[in-house]
Amino acid sequence: MRNLLTGLDVGTSKVCALVADASPEGEFALLGHGVAPCNGLRKGVVVNIEATVEAIRAALDEAEKTSGSRVGSVVAGVAGPHIRGLNSHGIVAVRGGEVGTRDVERVIDAARAVAIPLDRQVLHILPQQFAVDDQEGVRQPVGMAGVRLEARIHIVTAAQSYGQNLSKCCERAGVTPTELLFEPLASADAALFPEERELGVALIDVGGGTTDIIVFHSGAVMHTAVLPLGGNHLTSDIAAGIRTPVTEAEKLKVAYGAATCQVVRRDQTVQVAGVGGREPKAIARKLLADIIEPRMEEIFAMAQREIMRSGVADNLASGVVLVGGTSLLEGTQELAERIFGVPVRRGLPVNLKGMPEELMKPMYTTAAGLILHQGDRGADHKGARHGKFGWWRSRFSDWVRDFF
Ligand SMILES: Nc1ncnc2c1ncn2[C@@H]1O[C@H](COP(=O)(O)OP(=O)(O)OP(=O)(O)O)[C@@H](O)[C@H]1O
Ligand SMILES: [Mg+2]
Repeated sequence: MRNLLTGLDVGTSKVCALVADASPEGEFALLGHGVAPCNGLRKGVVVNIEATVEAIRAALDEAEKTSGSRVGSVVAGVAGPHIRGLNSHGIVAVRGGEVGTRDVERVIDAARAVAIPLDRQVLHILPQQFAVDDQEGVRQPVGMAGVRLEARIHIVTAAQSYGQNLSKCCERAGVTPTELLFEPLASADAALFPEERELGVALIDVGGGTTDIIVFHSGAVMHTAVLPLGGNHLTSDIAAGIRTPVTEAEKLKVAYGAATCQVVRRDQTVQVAGVGGREPKAIARKLLADIIEPRMEEIFAMAQREIMRSGVADNLASGVVLVGGTSLLEGTQELAERIFGVPVRRGLPVNLKGMPEELMKPMYTTAAGLILHQGDRGADHKGARHGKFGWWRSRFSDWVRDFF
């Protein structure tokens, strides 16, 4: 029997649905996919239910057709500047001189007991590390001798109404959202290697309406943030800068844009279609880069500030990994290296095997991660594969049921 998993990335630019089959051993076979342009979101959150439902349905129809299966439920990605990440910690006395599973549950409960406003909902509780008595940096405390157990965790919360709107869109499109997953967690599952998470890495997803940041160190999530800026802002800057419609500005950006003037030859020119019956005109390609560069600098400078807040900015041995559609801009890596001062690489959804070539692009990283995340959990439940905090993840991913 098939174990169908569907990941639904509802982005500001497009909706991407992936359908995969998970084997009991935790292997995936991608069965189908669908991508549809979406105009129903602004800065990562739903502002037009009808348009979003239509895009979700179109992406699901295509995914159902290509996979030859009916999709009943999805894990959907959630993002937007309403999402907040915070670090917290808790301490409990260990019962009986040896740490048990119950003690770990109690210490996590103690750590998550922070005041969260009523209109916000906890999306994820991500353990960072434990300490048993004076022994710090413990990842698996169960079975250790001690009298005092301490936990450090990262909590991700979302504004309730935004999540509810996204779920409503899924339901109107005829599918049940079984879980909402914070998008950069999914992207990290798809694009990062385990050793990068250990050594320290910042994953930055520069999409259409938002830029998501997630920082890992010693295998744990240290910081998360969402900035209300993305590639769409580059497009509107170009439209205003050279007085051309947004659709033309988008085409120019994708075909000839560059994140820094450094990578553009001075003598290169590009044709811009005329507006309102005017003749097409030629402009220097450098002009496009001149418009894009300050905005990209602004995005990366804001991302840098978030990375500094993680407290591990000086220890990111694996540097920065860039994903999201905007990371395709020529010169993005060069500009990012200048601003972050660490090695930068471009990420792709490499961890999901069997992705067709047309999906091996940085904008499909989130959708691929939404599948991989479910696989992790499925395997945890069956005991086939234990992620570091697998048991924990499975327990708290049930939050979504309380959410609605
Ligand atoms: N080749 C390219 N060069 C430059 N920009 C590109 C290229 N291809 C796509 N983009 C830009 O990438 C952005 C879309 O990226 P992506 O699909 O990752 O966003 P999204 O997931 O829909 O949005 P978000 O995550 O912000 O909600 C658009 O602004 C688009 O113009
Ligand atoms: Mg996205």
